[in-house]
Amino acid sequence: MPTEYTPLITTVRVAPHRQRYPHNVFRRFCTIAISSTLIYFFAAYLVLLFAEPIHIPDHISWSGHGRSKVSYDELRQIILDTPSREKAREWSKYYTSGAHLAGKNYSQAAWTRDKWEEFGVKSDIVAYDVYINYPKDHRLALLEKKGEDEASSSWKVAFEASLVEDVLDKDPTSGLKESIPTFHGYSASGNVTGPLVYVNYGTFQDFEDLRKANISLGGKMAIARYGGIFRGLKVKRAQELGMLGVIIYTDPGDDGELTEEKGVKPYPDGPARQASSVQRGSVQFLSFAPGDPTTPGYPSKPGVPRAPVDAAIPSIPSIPISYLDALPILKALNGHGPKAKDFNQYWTRNTGLKYKGIEYNIGPTPDDVVVNLYNEQEYTTTPLWNVIGVINGTIPDEVIIVGNHRDAWIAGGAGDPNSGSAVINEVIRSFGEALKLGWKPLRTVVFASWDGEEYGLIGSTEWVEEYLPWLDKANVAYVNIDVGASGRHFKASAAPLLNEIIYAATGAVKSPNQTTAGQSVLDVWGGKISTMGSGSDFTAFQDFAGIPSIDIGFNPYPEDAVYHYHSNYDSFAWMEKFGDPEFVCHQTIAQILGLITAHLVDVPVIPFSAKAYTDALDRYVEQVEDKLDSALSPHANELDISSLSEEDITSIRGSHRLTSQLSTNQTHNHDHDDGTPSAASFKKALRSLHHKISHLSKKAKSLDTQAKALAEAINHIDELPWWKFPKIIRLIFAIRSVNTKYKLLERSFLYSEGLDGRPWFKHVVFAPGLWTGYAGAVFPGLVESIDASDWANALRWVDIIGVCVERAGRGI
Ligand SMILES: *[C@@H]1O[C@H](CO)[C@@H](O)[C@H](O)[C@H]1NC(C)=O
Ligand SMILES: *[C@@H]1O[C@H](CO)[C@@H](O)[C@H](O)[C@H]1NC(C)=O
Ligand SMILES: *[C@@H]1O[C@H](CO)[C@@H](O)[C@H](O)[C@H]1NC(C)=O
Ligand SMILES: *[C@@H]1O[C@H](CO)[C@@H](O)[C@H](O)[C@H]1NC(C)=O
Ligand SMILES: *[C@@H]1O[C@H](CO)[C@@H](O)[C@H](O)[C@H]1NC(C)=O
Ligand SMILES: *[C@@H]1O[C@H](CO)[C@@H](O)[C@H](O)[C@H]1NC(C)=O
Ligand SMILES: [Zn+2]
Repeated sequence: MPTEYTPLITTVRVAPHRQRYPHNVFRRFCTIAISSTLIYFFAAYLVLLFAEPIHIPDHISWSGHGRSKVSYDELRQIILDTPSREKAREWSKYYTSGAHLAGKNYSQAAWTRDKWEEFGVKSDIVAYDVYINYPKDHRLALLEKKGEDEASSSWKVAFEASLVEDVLDKDPTSGLKESIPTFHGYSASGNVTGPLVYVNYGTFQDFEDLRKANISLGGKMAIARYGGIFRGLKVKRAQELGMLGVIIYTDPGDDGELTEEKGVKPYPDGPARQASSVQRGSVQFLSFAPGDPTTPGYPSKPGVPRAPVDAAIPSIPSIPISYLDALPILKALNGHGPKAKDFNQYWTRNTGLKYKGIEYNIGPTPDDVVVNLYNEQEYTTTPLWNVIGVINGTIPDEVIIVGNHRDAWIAGGAGDPNSGSAVINEVIRSFGEALKLGWKPLRTVVFASWDGEEYGLIGSTEWVEEYLPWLDKANVAYVNIDVGASGRHFKASAAPLLNEIIYAATGAVKSPNQTTAGQSVLDVWGGKISTMGSGSDFTAFQDFAGIPSIDIGFNPYPEDAVYHYHSNYDSFAWMEKFGDPEFVCHQTIAQILGLITAHLVDVPVIPFSAKAYTDALDRYVEQVEDKLDSALSPHANELDISSLSEEDITSIRGSHRLTSQLSTNQTHNHDHDDGTPSAASFKKALRSLHHKISHLSKKAKSLDTQAKALAEAINHIDELPWWKFPKIIRLIFAIRSVNTKYKLLERSFLYSEGLDGRPWFKHVVFAPGLWTGYAGAVFPGLVESIDASDWANALRWVDIIGVCVERAGRGI
């Protein structure tokens, strides 16, 4: 228990210091009197609070501190002034100087820990034993049968893919001896040979289109282009349809205007894609469960039981290739089967290799033209290392977590993830400066450098699984930064509770866009915040633990240089020449991340907006209603995609509505004889959900109003005479109560059974789309039931959501 606990009265620092009391000695006496009373109350309160045992990480405690010597305004100034371009550049240079694949670079974890300690933040390495693969050998070749008859014919190698990225004189990283081979994380080993089929982006609907056209898929090899959905889901669907293996290439058509076809020079001389660049990446079935696939739902500690992995990772081999390697393979399809243009508009968009003679035929190739894919992966259970830094706060059970992953697919990783690593270092250095000046945070801050993100968000997922009971009680918010800078376009996704905090921070930081001097990041960005999907370390916090999360970063504008994602050319040299030459985006995003953190940590009343959440819930129900109407419309497939955003296209193509089920059951307006509900009764249920949400919305509004009043009152607390200390105590308890309501609001939306077929995902509002992976789906259980025309289950989900909404209402 804290002995020198100075309670929330430390928050007087938010008000500018004013010398209004002439009797300083008397005033100090009063402060001491109030403080001791509060210590008594709080000690009693905390004893109650922690009476039940909670598993708290060893390195974190609730010990109190003295009064902070740094006001909130001073803290903000430190956070704006400290991050430097030179330092960010220095950290970037360090992290990108050698390989740091998950579980392969302990010294980089130790270096990170030591740096954070040097900045003044107590840090430890937290290890897990996880099941992952490392590449051993691979081969991809196009084989053709030559000769007249069976007896004299033999297979000839028509093309042998290089499977390496070119070594460029102007990019030293590309020539590193320890550079990492091109491979897929969690890819299966195997040696498969078969005729080839082009499957477009490999989305669920692409495969449906192929089935509808009677293209034979079983026993064939797939070639898919990157884009749209998470790559593992391309492999998953191919596997389900009996395909042998999957080749995934990067089509320059998806790079927009900056392509060689349009006369733009490729990297390293220009901003277009280097033709030999390869996107490595994980093919885990991310939307089914992230983390170590052998320990779903519990931490991968040494010696724990291990589950079978069949449902979580592919059983067929896959390999990523460059478009240079893809050309001869795609060319082999020319003249075989229908063409992309015989299909719908989703097949003809961004076909960027026509000028190289590729006709984008679907295939399959005839039996005497086959592809051989040989993949040898070493699977092992091996330690990986998170670095966890902690600054103890004054309030024991209100914790803010800020994280970035450190592992990369390549020796470089200047964008992904080490622009984020450089940035988080600058943020920690900034808070370290504040600590040196005597700053005492109100809430505890935990900084995390995750390992194993790339394979499947492993380091963060295992850590959340281990500390779930504590996080459930204490974690107020999680803030993620993955790719901090790969272009100049600010991007954010967040739980709606946190939207206002992002607006406040981005409104206070100058935009790095040189043409708009004086404008804030918010002015230039415009304020669109996406819903939480998956694809980075916020997933376990948001979707499993119900902790409201934020993910921010600078991404490329269409006119920014092509970002060589997961390729050797995501290097320091690329960053310095094209990505963020002055490291100004690094500096800007460090300021934003720092301000968001400071806001969450040091403002007495947790700055959430419950109303923003209920407004969003209402909108999401409307989206479901729209979806329902368009599913019932006979023109559902006649959208003009040129008017759709990339996100909309992804969500349409990643929906798992089976084409054959369309227009069968949906149009009935009466419940079926067997009791199956109809679309009409389902619509009625949605209306009642609106009703529940509007009830919650009223309570949310009054909570926000109360919070505002309390924030105002605490700002003026030092205007109260000492003999009003009972009022002060009441105020502090009121703040405590509001803060607890805000803290736990997001948890109301957890459903312990989880989503259908993917029980790890507990959140009823947010999850990655089942067949998109990255993109966020809202009300996933409900939407997936509609996709499957399973109205009974859709009704069940409306009920589950309704129960959560009511629970949230009772909680606030
Ligand atoms: C580990 O990372 C550091 C810093 O990036 C690098 O210098 C070193 O070569 C890496 N070690 C290995 C074994 O790859
Ligand atoms: C893989 O299969 C091909 C074709 O069947 C065969 O020629 C090759 O030797 C096999 N490679 C390995 C490493 O087993
Ligand atoms: C696919 O096969 C079915 C049944 O064999 C046939 O009715 C249908 O017309 C075929 N579709 C196409 C596009 O060839
Ligand atoms: C937090 O406080 C506890 C108990 O006083 C101490 O053991 C721990 O080292 C502190 N942690 C940090 C990161 O300061
Ligand atoms: C800079 O801002 C202007 C005005 O908002 C915008 O049109 C332009 O695309 C931005 N350019 C860059 C490189 O950020
Ligand atoms: C369509 O309705 C029938 C009978 O009501 C039911 O058995 C079948 O599962 C439904 N199909 C779908 C796709 O929901
Ligand atoms: Zn990343």
